[in-house]
Amino acid sequence: MAKPRTHFLCRECGAVQSRWMGKCPDCGAWDALEKYVEPRADDGGERRAVAEAWAAADEAGAGDPITPSVATPLPEIDTAEVRRWPTGIPEVDRVLGGGFVPGSVVMLGGEPGIGKSTLLLQVAGRIAAGGQRVLYVSSEESQQQTRLRAERIFAADDETELPGNLANLLVLAETSLARVIEQTRKTRPSVMIVDSLQTVHQAQVEAAAGSVTQLRRCCCDLVTLARLSGIAIVVVGHVTKEGQLAGPKLVEHLVDAVLSFEGDRHHAHRVVRSTKNRFGTTMEVGLFEMTGRGLREVRDPGRGLDLTATPPPGSVFCPVMHGSRCLMVEIQALTAPGFPGNAKRRTSGLDGSRLAMLIAVLEQHGGLRLADQDIFASAVGGLRIMEPAADLAVCLAVAGAHLRRPLPAGVAVVGEVGLDGAVRHPPHIEQRRRESERRACGKLIMRPVIPGEGVVTDGVLGAETIGAALALLDSAPKPTSGAQIPTHGQKKFAGV
Ligand code: TYD
Ligand code: MG
Repeated sequence: MAKPRTHFLCRECGAVQSRWMGKCPDCGAWDALEKYVEPRADDGGERRAVAEAWAAADEAGAGDPITPSVATPLPEIDTAEVRRWPTGIPEVDRVLGGGFVPGSVVMLGGEPGIGKSTLLLQVAGRIAAGGQRVLYVSSEESQQQTRLRAERIFAADDETELPGNLANLLVLAETSLARVIEQTRKTRPSVMIVDSLQTVHQAQVEAAAGSVTQLRRCCCDLVTLARLSGIAIVVVGHVTKEGQLAGPKLVEHLVDAVLSFEGDRHHAHRVVRSTKNRFGTTMEVGLFEMTGRGLREVRDPGRGLDLTATPPPGSVFCPVMHGSRCLMVEIQALTAPGFPGNAKRRTSGLDGSRLAMLIAVLEQHGGLRLADQDIFASAVGGLRIMEPAADLAVCLAVAGAHLRRPLPAGVAVVGEVGLDGAVRHPPHIEQRRRESERRACGKLIMRPVIPGEGVVTDGVLGAETIGAALALLDSAPKPTSGAQIPTHGQKKFAGV
């Protein structure tokens, strides 16, 4: 029999090395390589072990549990069996592409404390209240802790009020995957949630829980279990401080969909987005807000924004795309005197390197002197905005803050800014214009020429260059509370 092959896998980046090294040559992480013995591929050993556990003493599971696969012409493949189980939470269904697919494995990644367990318990509650059986495997918390959390979350939820409707929600506090499979076989749920992958283990594998070997083996076993039983399985994966799933390449390719739960723990807003989805698009995002009673769906995060009042200098509204939705977001900037050559540039919810580029454009094409200014820019509300469509809004926020000149009331801003100082159209311009109209925003600052439509003037303040956009800032500087209007000589910028 062939000798099992031994590799060394990096815990941080998942790279495979043939020998042990102190430092991973791929990602540079120290002391991150772990020994991994590859399972023999000859007889599908892992698959058979799970299959046997699944079929053991099961009257219904007579015969060979591993059906040999047969090559079938594409048109003859039956898709009638591919149903979906909606989760009952539209924001989650939107990201999944309509609900869980039986026999699939979805991984939900996120930083500790972001709300993964809360979200999945809510999903479990809704599915159970809808009449499907759900097994919630909590390998981090006790059954009592889960019940207490459920009471808090569901107390305000009319549809899933405890206890009657939740008899279909089974909770198992267990870390041994073999015992989890055993319970799954007994309870036959439609959906199983494993919280989390890093804390379950297979006893016959000689490696610590959370190690690369265990992680990969447990994930393989759960995928096999899902395929054999038709159960939709959701696994929770903790992310490293760099924001990657621990050992991402080791398990991401094994599962059908990878969802990431993002947000700032100090803000209420949370975003669920899919980075991989075999059953739907990766363009959609789900928006939530953490409240004292669990996560609440957010359909319109900017509902409190008042676009009709004159904004303070440095505050600009921008319609940004989140998946297929357009949302109005406030972007704020602040400038303060710093040390030339060592001025700080800090962002929150915005791309830091993009800000540095926009500052250079403001200096070269807008005539502003910002080299000695500390500049801070943020997207209000905890959402992350990475699209270049917010460029012009960031520029006007920084310039407005520096010159203490606000934009007029009822104005939103959208546009990509090039290195030549020209303003360009971002994608989905029509949707952004509609969102601005819906918000009773009088004017949208953008490039006035739309391909196919010519020059538009209705509801538009045209700006073809960064200089022209800066000219739209209020002409009279406004003192902010307790602040002095800068008197040091500022170069006059183009177009003013
Ligand atoms: P949790 O779901 O345990 O996070 P994760 O599983 O991702 O580690 O919850 C994280 C935080 O959410 C926790 O610190 C407390 C807070 N929280 C609320 O604010 N309201 C609630 O109703 C619940 C259940 C949690
Ligand atoms: Mg948790």
